[in-house]
Amino acid sequence: MSRYLDPRHAGLVPYTPGEQPKDRKFIKLNTNESPFPPSPRVMEAVNRAQVESLKLYSDPDARVLTHAIAARYGLDEEQVIAGNGSDEILAFAFLAFGGSKGAVFPEISYGFYPVFAKLLGVPARSVPLREDFSIDVRDYLTPGENVVIANPNAPTGLALSHAEIETILRAHPDDVVLIDEAYVDFGNESAVCLLPKYGNLLIVQTFSKSRSLAGGRVGFALGSRELIADLQAVRYSFNPYNLGRLPQLAGAAAMEDEAYFRECTGKIVATRERVKAALRGMGCALTDSRSNFLFARLPGVSGARAQAALRERGILVRRFDRPAIADYLRVTVGSDAEMDAFLQAVEEIIEEART
Ligand SMILES: Cc1ncc(COP(=O)(O)O)c(C=O)c1O
Repeated sequence: MSRYLDPRHAGLVPYTPGEQPKDRKFIKLNTNESPFPPSPRVMEAVNRAQVESLKLYSDPDARVLTHAIAARYGLDEEQVIAGNGSDEILAFAFLAFGGSKGAVFPEISYGFYPVFAKLLGVPARSVPLREDFSIDVRDYLTPGENVVIANPNAPTGLALSHAEIETILRAHPDDVVLIDEAYVDFGNESAVCLLPKYGNLLIVQTFSKSRSLAGGRVGFALGSRELIADLQAVRYSFNPYNLGRLPQLAGAAAMEDEAYFRECTGKIVATRERVKAALRGMGCALTDSRSNFLFARLPGVSGARAQAALRERGILVRRFDRPAIADYLRVTVGSDAEMDAFLQAVEEIIEEART
């Protein structure tokens, strides 16, 4: 820390991203990326002519992209805002709505929520999960604070029903309820169908997982015209050209290729269910994840040991060193071949611990 840092930020504990190794070919199951390449349409869209046009600023309204998103979800373009990854959209939302009111979110959830709150001076309250890692909606019914919930939640993979989300929305007529749907595309239905009924609902999604564009950095939010206009005001006050030309084109092309999206997400869901069954067969404890990752504990092996033993075998997984979940691994659902290698390694590690 330099002596110039504003004392407000002295206690800031930054978000720690999952490892992105450069030096060795790992099986990367640690950051919930897609095992599949982006849609072939993305390759066509990001062509030489487009690269040459990088000398010009990008469209500050990202119209090609927001048009594709609006068309996909049956919304008006004024109900869509695009961002440099959904992380940026989340930051805009904390800035726009957090202020004096503050936000409540689950204690075990996406690790960026408390970081944004601290950085942006938003009062935050975090609520423990139930023992089975599920969210009890009754903990989120106090009006007067905004609500932020990842659905499905991370790193547990557990999802709330639309009825439960509606219970929260109804309890907060004067607050924003942000539903972070980073993982919604893996067999769940988006809460977008609730938008006509609830002006306080803000849905955040990303192209990083189900649309294979983690490195493109494209995210977006859907909501009422009023909520989106507030976010646009914050965005224009911060970085109007927040999305480059290539990510805008890549995002639009990915969004328009519905068949490829369905094929990839369908395969991931099928692999997830197969791996779930195999892990259960080996005596692992795991949640009924509805996302593109598994949340599992190996029998007779600590989380730290399991993670290290997988690493020794060239497999990266994520673990969070927090008491309730320290023995659990968050394992991205990769290709079938990657998951076979993972299952083989898990079998060996459990066997080693037994002997
Ligand atoms: C719940 C959740 N929300 C948002 C994000 C951010 O995604 P991105 O900034 O890549 O769009 C992540 C990334 O892992 C996440 O897990």
